[in-house]
Amino acid sequence: MKKIIIAIDGFSSTGKSTIARKVAKKLNYIYVDTGAMYRAVTYYAIKQGFIKNGELNSEGLISALDNITISFKMNEVSGIAEVYLNGKNIESNIRTMEVSNYVSPVATLSEVRKKLVEQQQQMGKDKGIVMDGRDIGTVVFPQAELKIFMTASVKTRAQRRYKELTARGHNLDFDAVLGNVTTRDHIDSTREDSPLIKAKDAIEIDNSDLTIEEQVQTIITLANKKI
Ligand code: C5P
Repeated sequence: MKKIIIAIDGFSSTGKSTIARKVAKKLNYIYVDTGAMYRAVTYYAIKQGFIKNGELNSEGLISALDNITISFKMNEVSGIAEVYLNGKNIESNIRTMEVSNYVSPVATLSEVRKKLVEQQQQMGKDKGIVMDGRDIGTVVFPQAELKIFMTASVKTRAQRRYKELTARGHNLDFDAVLGNVTTRDHIDSTREDSPLIKAKDAIEIDNSDLTIEEQVQTIITLANKKI
């Protein structure tokens, strides 16, 4: 059977990863969460002191990029591919508010994007992949056979993120989560390099009122027409 590339882009907390992971599982495809890669670089920047007192030392981070190796490894228990930074599992360190607050500024840096995009293209070279992010259908795989652009109202998205974080034991304020989602959307959509925009040939899905299963089924139906 022909293998394709499925690119899923969209705003923060649209549930892209959940849907992309399920679609990949159904098709027996690889799933790659590119947001986790930008988060891993941000976590490294915090740990190495390139982010201090609210300031990002862009030059310092850029000069250290060669010291960063990001990989994914399947957690056999959960069935989820977890992210590793220089061989260390950092899956539980990258979804904090601290990382969320700095990831979009880090993701504006062209040198960071170049490094991660090259790795992403390498991961998709044999197709049979579902990748989610902000620039997958526009920059990473402009030739992807199926492109999805996910949206939902900002309030719905902040509520989802708040629920997800509190379920993981984080104690936070809803307004802080709403503020983070809004700020990231703004930075991601207005940056110069690879801004978040809907590719001309992407199919838009507003999932404010759709169940996870409905979204997965919609994408599988679209994918089956291309396979
Ligand atoms: O998908 P997630 O919300 O985890 O992504 C975190 C951040 O990483 C985004 O807000 C965006 O700034 C950046 N990102 C990006 N390009 C991608 C994936 C994520 O710039 N392909």
